[in-house]
Amino acid sequence: MQPWPTLCFSNVSVAFDNHTAVQALNLTLAEQRIGIIGANGSGKSTFARLINGLVAPTHGTVNIDGLDTVRDGKAIRRKVGFVFQNPDNQIVMPTVEEDLAFGLTNLKLDKEEIEKRIETTLQHYHLTALRQQAAHSLSGGQKQLLAICGVLVIQPQTIVLDEPTTQLDLRNKRQIAAVIEKLNQQIIMVTHDLPLLTNFNRVLVFDNGHLVCDAPPAQAIAFYEQLMA
Ligand SMILES: Nc1ncnc2c1ncn2[C@@H]1O[C@H](COP(=O)(O)OP(=O)(O)OP(=O)(O)O)[C@@H](O)[C@H]1O
Ligand SMILES: [Mg+2]
Repeated sequence: MQPWPTLCFSNVSVAFDNHTAVQALNLTLAEQRIGIIGANGSGKSTFARLINGLVAPTHGTVNIDGLDTVRDGKAIRRKVGFVFQNPDNQIVMPTVEEDLAFGLTNLKLDKEEIEKRIETTLQHYHLTALRQQAAHSLSGGQKQLLAICGVLVIQPQTIVLDEPTTQLDLRNKRQIAAVIEKLNQQIIMVTHDLPLLTNFNRVLVFDNGHLVCDAPPAQAIAFYEQLMA
């Protein structure tokens, strides 16, 4: 059996006003670790947001294991978690534990299951001591870790991360990179930190809304470096 969800983009375009951010994309993804790179404004975030329905295609469809990201939005958001570049956009509740509980309340889980998921996740990521702490008082690295934990408690099969290390100092960048490296889910990661993609299965390069290279990391990164030269 195919172990990772299959993402199918069929003739997908996304237009904003007069600008087309993603152009006529036909693509099937079924690997565990997929990197997305490209210049600023090339369409990476728009592509990433298509995967969990944050952005709807103007033309075409995005389908994940038979679920349409627009028509089956609710099921898609359980299946696909999204981590934003800025954790402040993701953390919505006053304390660490309330923030983790927030995403779970819509899943109609019983109290014990919610508590178990929060407890296990806090322990696994060494955040138990911060459980009652005000989320706004966390460091940048702790906030990004909390944002990732807020996605993990939902137990999605796929996690999309849009530049999760861009705002972090070197130590936190390494810590978050190590956390991402150990995740067992399917990972789709947009990044400008090219070395983070070394062990990825597949890397897509976007340029002006077009997918211009789809290759293993070394080849795709070399292509991107040439493109930027
Ligand atoms: N909601 C929107 N409304 C209008 N234009 C948008 C919107 N979102 C993105 N765009 C435009 O689409 C293009 C692609 O944007 P996108 O954010 O996908 O690029 P990106 O590759 O993620 O860039 P960066 O590396 O700077 O994050 C840009 O020209 C951007 O201005
Ligand atoms: Mg972006």
